Amino acid sequence: MSAQAANAPATGAALRHVENWRKLHSRGYFAQHRRYRDRLHARGTDEIGRLLALTPEDTLLELGCGYGRALYHLLPRVRRAVGIDLSAEPFAEARGLLAGRGEFALHVGDGVSLRPVDDASIDKAFAFTVFQHLTRAQAAAYTAEFARVLRPGGRVCIQFLTGGDTDADQSDEVREQSLSYSAAQIAALVEGAGLRLTNLELAPTDHAAYCWYWMAADKPAAGRARERFEDRAY
Ligand SMILES: C[S@@+](CC[C@H](N)C(=O)[O-])C[C@H]1O[C@@H](n2cnc3c(N)ncnc32)[C@H](O)[C@@H]1O
Repeated sequence: MSAQAANAPATGAALRHVENWRKLHSRGYFAQHRRYRDRLHARGTDEIGRLLALTPEDTLLELGCGYGRALYHLLPRVRRAVGIDLSAEPFAEARGLLAGRGEFALHVGDGVSLRPVDDASIDKAFAFTVFQHLTRAQAAAYTAEFARVLRPGGRVCIQFLTGGDTDADQSDEVREQSLSYSAAQIAALVEGAGLRLTNLELAPTDHAAYCWYWMAADKPAAGRARERFEDRAY
C-alpha cells in the first residue's frame, strides 16, 4: 500500500477493526486484562531502548500506546514522546502516568495513518504488541506511515508475532486475533515502504508454538533502501 493510500480514512475491514477496539476500550480493556494487572510492568522496554538506540535528543513515537505503560519507562530517556491509539479512554490514565516525566502529546488516530504527525518529524518510533492485532492492510499502511514520519536516518522497531498461520487475515468477530508473520513477509513489508531492515531477532512468547520477531529498520539518509536484508534461516 502506498503512503498516499495510507492517508485515506479507514474503510471496510479496517474500519470494523477500529470500531472493535474502541468498543474494547469503552469496556475497560486494560483494566480487565491479566497482562496489565501490574500496571507499570516494563516488558519490552529494554529491547525497544536497545534496538532504537534511544538518546536524550530523540523525539519518540509509539503506535498503539494504550494507557502509556511503555512510554512511562521510555519518556524520561528522550526529549519528547508522541503516543497514538484508537480512543481517548486510555489516555486519561496515560496523562496521569506521564505527567512530570517529560514532554509528550497523545493523539486519537484513525486506525490506518499516523496523522496528525508531520512528515520527517520523528527520530525513533515503535509498536509493541500491536502489529499482530492489525489487518495485513493496516500493517502495510502503518509501515508506510512510519517511513513518512521518520526523519532520514531515523529508526523504527516493531514487534511481530510468528509461528502461526501467515496467510490468515483478521476476522471481524474475534477479540484480539493474533496474526503471524514470516521473516520474508516482514522483510517485504519494510523494504516495500523504503526502509532498510537492520535487525530481526527471535524471542520466546508464553506459548511454545509462537515467538516474537523484534524488527528494527532505518529510514535511509537519502532515497530508498538499495540493499535487501540478507536471507537467513530463522
Ligand atoms: C495489546 S495492547 C498494547 C498496548 C501498549 N503497546 C502496551 O504494550 O502497553 C494493543 C494496543 O494497540 C492498539 N491498536 C490496535 N489497533 C490499532 C490501530 N489500528 N491503530 C492504532 N492503535 C491500535 C489498541 O487500541 C491497544 O491499545
